[in-house]
Amino acid sequence: MNRYRIATIPGDGIGNEVVPAAQQVLERAGSHFGITLEWNELEWSCEYYARTGRMMPANGLDTLAEHDQIFLGAVGYPGVPDHVSLWGLLIPIRRAFRQYVNLRPVTLLPGIDSPLRAVPEGGIDFVVVRENNEGEYSEVGGRMYRGTPDELAVQEAVFTRRGIERVMRYAFDLAGRRAGRLASATKSNGIIHSMPFWDEIFRELGSEHPGVETSEYHIDALAALFVLDPARFDVVVASNLFGDILTDLGAAIIGSIGIAPSANLNPEGDFPSMFEPVHGSAPDIAGTGRANPLGQVWAGAMMLEHLGHADAADAVMGAVSHVLAETGVRTPDLGGTASTSEVTDELLTALETEV
Ligand code: NAI
Ligand code: MG
Repeated sequence: MNRYRIATIPGDGIGNEVVPAAQQVLERAGSHFGITLEWNELEWSCEYYARTGRMMPANGLDTLAEHDQIFLGAVGYPGVPDHVSLWGLLIPIRRAFRQYVNLRPVTLLPGIDSPLRAVPEGGIDFVVVRENNEGEYSEVGGRMYRGTPDELAVQEAVFTRRGIERVMRYAFDLAGRRAGRLASATKSNGIIHSMPFWDEIFRELGSEHPGVETSEYHIDALAALFVLDPARFDVVVASNLFGDILTDLGAAIIGSIGIAPSANLNPEGDFPSMFEPVHGSAPDIAGTGRANPLGQVWAGAMMLEHLGHADAADAVMGAVSHVLAETGVRTPDLGGTASTSEVTDELLTALETEV
């Protein structure tokens, strides 16, 4: 039986709008492929924090561990500092469950105009593999002499051989299954300890993978190339911070941050993985019913694929492409006038022809 227990964390703001929309689409796709998704909704959010002083209960990670996968909307709301929502929920989940790969496809879908000039259909199709457990997002450091003219802050980045190797091995394997090109984001001219270490390991692994063509770019130049020549990329591997910045840029060049998906993967399957859109809780549009559900839906397709149901994932993405290319139904971030529920209904209709 293909029955899965999925923990859902809609979170804050538009997370509460796009998660239920995506659940409808995934359930419909699942029913065509003999997949049952048992959703267990958890109310963990900034609202929960305001009531309890925690983003999730003390045994929250144990609760999540009882599930096959985690489906998350977004957390963060005005009034709760962003580092509280991030370090109280997302980062503990990513780390405790060794979700060391953050996979972010950057694909221009049919029917969408990139803000870049003259990108042909299919002209942007790459994947960013972001290191998700260490690097610049570190708890090592401190502050001293607060409130005096001598005030200072020190924040150390942490790069381990084990952490770099495992994410790079994932990226090399992925490139081997795609077009066979892997680019590494570095900054070894300015950051003279951790980034040369990153580069050394990249070259070591490159010599083990002669079938993959490798290249290295300083992060600043790489960002420019995302705009000037996105067709050059197949797979890009980057540290935690570099990957985070690159993927917001990636989301922008494929038309809207409302479309871009993200998978936090524990590739070994020892722990649940977590699937979420790249975007946040969008307090500026929350409650208006105009949030684009496609990023959440695409994240759901990645979840189906990770569960081993590529056919169901393809059906979902086929429906997304159909709605974008063949119907005018789209939310305002893509230049349309449709609501979240109108787009969702259109996806449900399109699914009937995709399966
Ligand atoms: P954001 O992604 O929430 O919003 C940026 C802009 O994109 C806004 O103008 C918003 O309206 C628009 N947008 C985002 N998603 C959209 C969608 N699905 N449809 C249509 N328009 C959409 O980023 P922002 O404003 O920097 O952060 C807002 C809150 O979200 C903060 O508290 C932040 O910490 C949190 N956040 C949470 C993330 C997560 O849970 N993984 C990721 C990023 C931000
Ligand atoms: Mg980000």
